[in-house]
Amino acid sequence: MIDRLGELREQALGELESIDNLSDLEAWRVRHLGRKSALTQVLRGLAGLSLEEKRASGAAANELRSLFEAQLALKQEAVREAEIAQAIETGRIDVTLPGRAPTLGRLHPSTQMLRQISDIFITMGFEVIEGPDVEWEYYCFDALNIPPDHPARDMWDTLWIDFEAEDGRHPMLLRTHTSPMQIRVMESRRPPVRVIVPGMCYRYEATDATHESMFYQIEGFAVDTNITLADLKGTLFEFAKRLFGKERKARFRCDYFPFVEPGVEMAIDCFLCNGSGCQLCSGTGWIEILGAGMVHPDVLRRVGYDPEVYTGFAFGLGVERMLMLKRGIDDIRLFYSNDLRFLRQF
Ligand code: DAH
Repeated sequence: MIDRLGELREQALGELESIDNLSDLEAWRVRHLGRKSALTQVLRGLAGLSLEEKRASGAAANELRSLFEAQLALKQEAVREAEIAQAIETGRIDVTLPGRAPTLGRLHPSTQMLRQISDIFITMGFEVIEGPDVEWEYYCFDALNIPPDHPARDMWDTLWIDFEAEDGRHPMLLRTHTSPMQIRVMESRRPPVRVIVPGMCYRYEATDATHESMFYQIEGFAVDTNITLADLKGTLFEFAKRLFGKERKARFRCDYFPFVEPGVEMAIDCFLCNGSGCQLCSGTGWIEILGAGMVHPDVLRRVGYDPEVYTGFAFGLGVERMLMLKRGIDDIRLFYSNDLRFLRQF
């Protein structure tokens, strides 16, 4: 039996050597590895042998099959390469043809805007820190001066997580704003802090052209000794100029957010009509771009910062809103409806 295998080996490998095309190679495969090949017959015949013979011949036959398969693969590769080389030589394949351009993806418009805004603050010395999308009620509301029965909770329509605490309450939620990171960062550091927090926010909204149930925000805050409203104004006015153009004017007006005092709403003069009034600015000449204020002393106290020593400012802005303003997009739902006709424009 072993002799027979030796003969098969010699014959097959001898034949293989002189083959130089794929169809002869296929015929060789059928002849030496196919169902009717001598080697397959040997493998089938093993069943009738004694246990000892089966062990010896079986191993040798299987080894031979592996050898044939490996040699076949090598030869296939070599024949293919030779054929390509020949095709190039005879001009059947023209290697000077321009290649096919791969389809390149791109960043989502929200991501592009997020990075552009972040870069502006990074050059001003802010550090980027991200936080969890799933948050505790404490960080999202209580620590920011929004206790359970405070009417301000109405401003943040919340998606609650189905998680029951030991006391039977449901304190886990999808963050409605990025402000909770003010607390997390201040709890873990001493001043000075100068941080921006980009991240996704979620609200239980009836969606329409200006409301979406998920969107990006960038929260920013700086706490140190001697920080005043003038620092806030300087920082944000500079930001607005860099994002919307040097000639932009900006204004602060009083607004209310529970975690700042005083709180402001910032607007820039409309870059479409230069302040004379148009559809984009609803005829007012001004466009609101963000909320901000001086960090409330109670918030500082809660994280162990002495409000007699430290002061700080905070602001929060909507990333999609900035891009909508800049590019005249009139429906926020376009951002997350995966319509390539929209996405390809960025
Ligand atoms: N968190 C607010 C919101 O989602 C935005 C905001 C307003 C953030 C004023 C601030 C701030 O830090 O000072 O509507």
